[in-house]
Amino acid sequence: MAVIIKSQREIELMRESCRILAQVHRQLGEAIKPGISTWDIDALGEKLIRSYGCIPNFLNYNGYPASVCVSVNDEVVHGIPSKERILQEGDIVSLDAGLIYKGYHSDAARTYPVGQVSQEAEKLITVTKQSFFEGIKYARAGCHLYDISNAIDRYCSQFGYGIVRDLVGHGVGTCLHEEPQIPNFRQWRRGIKLRPGMTLAIEPMINMGGYPVEWLEDGWTVVTQDGSLSAHYENTVLITEGAPEILTLMPE
Ligand code: MF3
Ligand code: CO
Repeated sequence: MAVIIKSQREIELMRESCRILAQVHRQLGEAIKPGISTWDIDALGEKLIRSYGCIPNFLNYNGYPASVCVSVNDEVVHGIPSKERILQEGDIVSLDAGLIYKGYHSDAARTYPVGQVSQEAEKLITVTKQSFFEGIKYARAGCHLYDISNAIDRYCSQFGYGIVRDLVGHGVGTCLHEEPQIPNFRQWRRGIKLRPGMTLAIEPMINMGGYPVEWLEDGWTVVTQDGSLSAHYENTVLITEGAPEILTLMPE
């Protein structure tokens, strides 16, 4: 039940798993344009993951039917890829993907504009990404877990955005979901102390409107209750003695 501290060997394997995922994400990002179906994005993601000799960890996870979660506009997360869902100019699309390399899981998400999008949509994407960076200022040994949650909340709230409460970040390692759970909204305690060797998937999910979400009939797709746009940004992060290592981010 405790938070796992990874050994040096495990950290190396996490680094490689995440480095590969960063490359998969870069290539997926380059494929985002009007006219592509969410099915094609998933097919490309699976092909890329397997081309690196890795296994897509989302595929068949609790019955999830694809390798990449593709969530469009008011879809928050876990959108199911479909041949009928064609990206249109002005949409925003969140891609969540993960893989297993030598038994070690990585997990990351990005939100992209499709062609030209509204200024409001652009801002939601930027603020969501920035909120991750505000959060990880506290992802250091000596800080506490919910310092991260509180920093994300503080940053997003000033824009009037809704911070999703029903879904949280998580530890990641030999399982996709390990302890601890990492909320993105204000907590009244500081939570556990962070220690070097923890690997955490920190993933703010931010709505332009209210925070409430609901599940579609397919049992997976999470949408905003008020129909407002939603963005998602996630990286797998290593806690060290100093600044956190963002394992799923490639130098730009
Ligand atoms: N990245 C998601 C998470 O952090 C995983 C998607 S769940 C799946 O929980 F079933 F789609 F794999
Ligand atoms: Co995750």
